[in-house]
Amino acid sequence: MGEFLNGWKRTCYCTELSRADAGREVTLMGWVNVRRDLGALIFVQLRDRSGLMQIVFDQNALSEADFARASTIRSEYVLAVRGTLSVRSAINPNMPTGEVEVLVKEFKILSAAETPPIDTSDNCNASELLRLKYRYLDLRRPCMQKNLIMRSKIAHIAREYFNENGFIDIETPVLTKSTPEGARDYLVPSRVHPGSFYALPQSPQLFKQLLMLSGFDRYIQIARCFRDEDLRADRQPDFTQIDLEMSFVEEDDVMGMNEGFLKRLFKETLDYDVTLPLPRIKWIDAMNRYGSDKPDTRFEMELKDLSEAVQNSGFSVFQNALQSGGSVRGIVAKGASKQFSRKEIDALGEFVKTYRAKGLAWMNWKDEGLQSPIAKFLTEQELTAICEAADFRKGDVLFIVADKNTVVWQALGALRLKLAEKLNLIPEGKYNLLWVTEFPQLEWSEEENRFVAMHHPFTSPMDEDVPKLDTDPGAVRAKAYDIVLNGNEIGGGSIRIHSSELQSKMFEVIGLTHEQAEARFKFLLDALKYGTPPHGGMAYGLDRLAMLICGTPSIRDVIAFPKVQNASCPLTNAPDPVDEKQLRELHIAVTDFEEE
Ligand code: AMO
Ligand code: AMP
Repeated sequence: MGEFLNGWKRTCYCTELSRADAGREVTLMGWVNVRRDLGALIFVQLRDRSGLMQIVFDQNALSEADFARASTIRSEYVLAVRGTLSVRSAINPNMPTGEVEVLVKEFKILSAAETPPIDTSDNCNASELLRLKYRYLDLRRPCMQKNLIMRSKIAHIAREYFNENGFIDIETPVLTKSTPEGARDYLVPSRVHPGSFYALPQSPQLFKQLLMLSGFDRYIQIARCFRDEDLRADRQPDFTQIDLEMSFVEEDDVMGMNEGFLKRLFKETLDYDVTLPLPRIKWIDAMNRYGSDKPDTRFEMELKDLSEAVQNSGFSVFQNALQSGGSVRGIVAKGASKQFSRKEIDALGEFVKTYRAKGLAWMNWKDEGLQSPIAKFLTEQELTAICEAADFRKGDVLFIVADKNTVVWQALGALRLKLAEKLNLIPEGKYNLLWVTEFPQLEWSEEENRFVAMHHPFTSPMDEDVPKLDTDPGAVRAKAYDIVLNGNEIGGGSIRIHSSELQSKMFEVIGLTHEQAEARFKFLLDALKYGTPPHGGMAYGLDRLAMLICGTPSIRDVIAFPKVQNASCPLTNAPDPVDEKQLRELHIAVTDFEEE
């Protein structure tokens, strides 16, 4: 059993001590990082959240009983040590506290520890599953401590900045009604209302709008959101937003306020100077130039439209795409002619097929001439026009996709990122922030055979496009904006609809009958009738922001207790079956539905 503190108080963290403190009597508390037993001397690296300190147990300075106790110390034991800070004879330049050590006079073993199943240093090479199973040990690793401390700092800066700007922190319910953001809901059965369910919020969207019409004017919340969707490296089923809303504003007001935040955030976390105003790109230009609504602008390699160059082509692949309203576009890997084997190019062809492209045409302009499986289908004139339109020259490789626009953008957008990685085009240490604006209001869902809201159905259309809701819904642009960092969507928002009539109209356009709209959103449609200020806002994915600022490739590295791919938690084993009794109380019967 471990000893008790009995009034001992820590005087400071390990790394708060330096050469200037030599001679001080200190009390440190922490974990044994490493222990070295040299017989008459036992060296321990003590670890707390600040870092490490060398601790020396000297046989000549301790009683026989104490030294015997010291020799039982092992890795991950929890100690409290009292002693004198002294300057080391052998300085360790690799340790921030490498100039000093604590010569122990008294110590307590507060807790023994079994040998941990994973290494608690940054060299840990355990699988992620094992790390997550023993997450409390994994979180002892200095890099994980650093990540969570940085995340806390980001949240703090957000609270501070928005508070200084008059935003009020208001909490919204977690047991609520569905708030559509395009994912599936997590449902919670009601015990009191048999057969009825709460939904966990996909975002606080509707509540923050209601707070605007209550007159709070500026709202912020660091809010938990829940979305039942397929997990990826940048997605979790429960995640956190920095969520805000403002009244009496237009797009520029919301974006300006947030640019101030981003500037402060990058300065205070990374000491990085963001230049304002941030660049803006319209959605359609982002798609045409980068094949993505979250373009990574740290490198160029833009898409080129070749449709005109091949408009009269006899090559059926190009003709078919153009005739069905699609396009032919290409991307040039500059000077990369020698860097692609035939096999690699074929693999890229398979790669674009995962984005529904039917194939990948290519031309490799080698020293000895043009190599291309499609050259034989093209006239000299067409080839010249393609070279011109794509800025394709000797030494370059050109990749072409012909299809409907959505497929061409997606396939070449993904190929662009893949090529950049292979060709090492992405510079380190660069943080490119930009706004993407003028999103389409609606997108056609083949699956559901109706228009769906691209952002969410509370987003306002652009004023001049409102009449098109009746005539050409697909062409309506929204007052929506996303903020993108190095090719990642870190946040997004919009100006909202603030009229009940227009909101009803929007529900109609996305295929809700009057009855369906009333059943789901009557409270909102009613509320909008009692005096609503024009309002808008946005939300950042805090986890994504933290991931990018910490420079880790996975969102799980900045979440204390994340879930894995199949939405389960390896630490607690959630989700779990529950007792029959609990189910009965909830009026739930579990049956095996046949998959349809
Ligand atoms: P949106 O759905 O774009 O907007 O979400 C805002 C931001 O939240 C982050 N995000 C996620 N992060 C981790 N895991 C997820 N599953 C996940 N889903 C989204 C993204 C995204 O940019 N109510 C609106 C905001 C508004 O209009 O004010 C909303 O939720 O970084
Ligand atoms: P095919 O005539 O189908 O053998 O195609 C000739 C070349 O065009 C092959 O290299 C295909 O990969 C390529 N290709 C086929 N479909 C497309 C498409 N939709 N876009 C671009 N290239 C394509």
